[in-house]
Amino acid sequence: MKPNVPWWQRGSIRISIVLVLLILVGGAGVGIYYTQAPPEQPIPFPHNFHVGIGAECMYCHTGAATGPSAGLPTTNKCWGCHQQLEPRNENLKLVASFAENEESIPWVPVALQPDFVKFNHQPHITAGVSCETCHGDVASMTVAEPQPRHNMGWCLDCHQKMSTPEDFVRLSDCATCHY
Ligand code: HEC
Ligand code: HEC
Ligand code: HEC
Ligand code: HEC
Ligand code: HEC
Repeated sequence: MKPNVPWWQRGSIRISIVLVLLILVGGAGVGIYYTQAPPEQPIPFPHNFHVGIGAECMYCHTGAATGPSAGLPTTNKCWGCHQQLEPRNENLKLVASFAENEESIPWVPVALQPDFVKFNHQPHITAGVSCETCHGDVASMTVAEPQPRHNMGWCLDCHQKMSTPEDFVRLSDCATCHY
């Protein structure tokens, strides 16, 4: 008589399940890697609307002109405007509830380089490179959308185009972009 083992515990079936899971997880990874679908954010923040009423990029991302990181706005910055607004829909209520509980909003990053890459906004803004060049047309997006993979070739290519051969020695030095 066959041992009474449930089907999902039989060796060969276990292996198939693992394979299918690997393919599914791998596929999801590839999907995030190659498509520009933004991750789900705690609030569906509309860039297009806020830029449309005149809020400039650096009003919310204040660090870009002065240092490595552009930074995200604090809940207080949202509240500066939103406390005067009627929370007449779910999204506006969400903003109010984070502010009233004095909580920071757990935004999910979309523009991230690996830890071993050293990026600095300041020299780029000083050199007149626009936000859109690197982040896409954020002014027409709701939440920020991930851009196609920003790899080393992308950085080097622009560094070469935007510099003299002498400056390119520094701008292509490994230590300029790596810790
Ligand atoms: C030369 C390309 C480039 C330009 C120009 C640029 N960025 Fe970035 N930005 C990046 C890269 C690369 C990262 C990821 C940095 C990292 O992970 O260390 C990033 C990250 C960010 C982030 C998230 C992390 C952080 O720094 O707080 C924000 C927000 C941001 N950029 C906003 C802006 C805004 C606003 C402008 C225009 C004022 C701008 N960026 C201009 C390349 C650029
Ligand atoms: C310069 C002022 C200002 C700032 C700063 C601001 N908002 Fe707004 N926001 C508005 C106005 C005005 C509206 C329109 C409200 C309405 O339709 O009644 C709005 C609308 C919204 C909406 C509603 C969109 C919808 O579904 O109707 C969301 C969500 C939102 N803001 C989130 C935020 C968050 C999060 C922050 C901070 C990161 C923020 N806002 C910062 C002015 C601002
Ligand atoms: C009213 C505030 C506000 C303004 C104005 C604003 N942003 Fe943002 N930005 C946010 C918030 C909140 C987030 C986090 C949610 C998201 O990812 O969309 C964000 C996210 C981003 C990110 C992704 C950051 C990350 O962590 O990966 C980029 C890039 C960005 N903004 C660029 C811009 C650019 C370019 C402009 C001008 C065209 C702009 N933003 C204007 C509030 C603002
Ligand atoms: C669209 C063009 C462009 C892209 C893309 C770009 N850069 Fe730059 N980068 C510049 C310019 C222009 C400068 C300023 C050059 C100067 O000051 O002589 C600069 C300067 C820098 C500096 C400062 C170097 C120094 O010693 O002063 C660093 C670090 C840097 N870039 C890293 C990066 C990294 C990392 C990436 C990719 C993730 C990147 N850049 C992508 C144009 C670009
Ligand atoms: C202008 C900026 C810049 C310079 C200069 C630079 N790198 Fe990179 N490098 C990057 C970025 C950005 C990544 C991350 C790429 C990614 O995630 O695909 C990277 C990734 C890498 C990786 C990881 C492999 C990979 O493709 O993900 C290695 C190894 C590396 N760099 C070595 C070097 C060496 C060696 C030099 C000097 C000859 C150098 N880099 C110069 C920006 C730079």
